[in-house]
Amino acid sequence: MDKLRIKGGNRLQGQVRISGAKNSALPAMAASLLTSQEVILQNLPLVNDVFTTRRLLRELGATVEFEQDHSARLHAQKILSHEAPYDLVKTMRASVLVLGPLLARTGRARVSLPGGCAIGARPINLHINGLQKLGAIVRTAHGYVEASAERLSGTDILFDKVTVTGTENLMMAATLAEGKTVLQNAACEPEVGDLAEMLNEMGAHIKGAGTPEITIEGVRELNGTTHRIIPDRIETGTFLIAGAITNGDLEIVDSEPAHLGSIIQKLRDTGAQIETGAGRMRVRGNGDLWAADVVTKEYPGFATDMQAQYMALMTQAVGTSVITEDIFENRFMHASELMRMGAVIRIDGARAIVTGKTPLSGATVIASDLRASASLVIAGLVADGATLIDRVYHLDRGYEKIEEKLRSVGAQIDRLK
Ligand code: UD1
Repeated sequence: MDKLRIKGGNRLQGQVRISGAKNSALPAMAASLLTSQEVILQNLPLVNDVFTTRRLLRELGATVEFEQDHSARLHAQKILSHEAPYDLVKTMRASVLVLGPLLARTGRARVSLPGGCAIGARPINLHINGLQKLGAIVRTAHGYVEASAERLSGTDILFDKVTVTGTENLMMAATLAEGKTVLQNAACEPEVGDLAEMLNEMGAHIKGAGTPEITIEGVRELNGTTHRIIPDRIETGTFLIAGAITNGDLEIVDSEPAHLGSIIQKLRDTGAQIETGAGRMRVRGNGDLWAADVVTKEYPGFATDMQAQYMALMTQAVGTSVITEDIFENRFMHASELMRMGAVIRIDGARAIVTGKTPLSGATVIASDLRASASLVIAGLVADGATLIDRVYHLDRGYEKIEEKLRSVGAQIDRLK
C-alpha cells in the first residue's frame, strides 16, 4: 500500500492546474448508458473513482477508451448486463448512479446496496422512493436493489432531504420517462447543472438545474454528444487552503471561482487574500490566520467535502473556531489524527471545537476517507519534521497526482510504494 511522506515548512509558490471535477465525471460517465450512440467526455480527472466507473461500464457492456488528453470515448451500443456488483459498489458508493440510467434505458437494473462507510450510514432510500414514484417496481433482496419498469412515467417528486446523487439519478431516469417530471428540493450543486447541460446536449429537455426545482420533459431516446467536465471545486478549495496555511502565493488555473463562493468568503474571513479572475484565482497568506466558525451546508453553502481541510487550517488560526458538520453524521475521523500531530480539538456531537494556533509535529497518521486524507496532507505541509500518511488509496480516489502538483509548487512530498 502506498504512503505519502511530507516534510513540512515550505511556502507554496507558483501555479497549479485544476483537474476536471470527479463528482461531475462520475454521473457523466453513467449518463453515457442512456444512449446507444457514442459519448465523448473531455477534461476527465484521472483518478481511481473514474477508473472504477470505467470498470463498471465495461461490465455492463459499454466500451470505454481513454485518449492521451484526459478525454474518453464511451459507447453503450448494447447493454449486456444489468448488474452493478457488490465488489465495485463497496469501493465506490457513486456506482449507484447507474441505477437510473440502466432502468430508464432497458427497463431493468440490479445494483448492490452500498451500506455504510467511514463518514456515516449513507442510505439510498430517496433514490429508491423516487424511482417508485416514476412507476418502477423496486425490491431489495440479498443485499441488492432490483428495479424494473416497462417505461417510467413522469411525476412530481419532492425530496425529503437534499441529495446530490439522488437528484442526478432521478434526473437521468426522467429524461427517458413518458411525460413531465418535476423534482422539488433538488440539489443545486454545480455538478447537477453540469450533468443537466450534458443531458440537454444529448437531446433531453431539462430546465431549472442549479435551482431547487428541476423540470424534465421525457423523450423517447437520447443521442451522443461531446461534453467537457467542469473544474473540480473541491480540488480548487484544497489548494486554496494549502496556499493559505503555508503563507504561500499560489495561482490556481483552470478553475471556476463562481463555484467556490462560500469557501472564498470563509477563507477571506480567516485572513487569506484571494483574488479571482476568469478561470483563475490567486491565494496569498498575509502572515496570520484568524479563527472563523463554519457550518457545512448544501450548495451554495460551505461544502462538507471541504470540512476536513478547513479543520487543518483552523489548527493554525489564532482563536477558537466551531466547525459544525450538518450533512454527514460521522465525518470527524481526521480530528483524532490531527490531534496526534498536536492539534487541540474537542468533538461535541456534530461540532468540532478547534483551539489554535498550535504547532503541529510530523507523525505517522492514517487516512480514513478521501477528504480526511487531504486534511492530513495539508497539516503535513506545516508540521515540524516528516508526516507519513498511510492508506493513500483514499486520496487517489479523488485527487489527480496530488503529490506532483504539490511538489511543483515547492512542497517536499514523495510517494513511498
Ligand atoms: C455527494 C458527493 C459527495 C458529497 C455529498 C454531499 C458525489 C459522487 N458525491 O454524495 O462527495 O460529500 O454529495 O455534498 O457527487 N441521504 C439520505 N437518503 C438518500 C440519500 C442521501 O438520507 O437516499 C442523506 C445522506 O446520508 C446525507 C445527505 O442525505 O446525510 C446528503 O447525501 P447526498 O447528497 O446523497 O450525498 P451523495 O450524493 O452520496
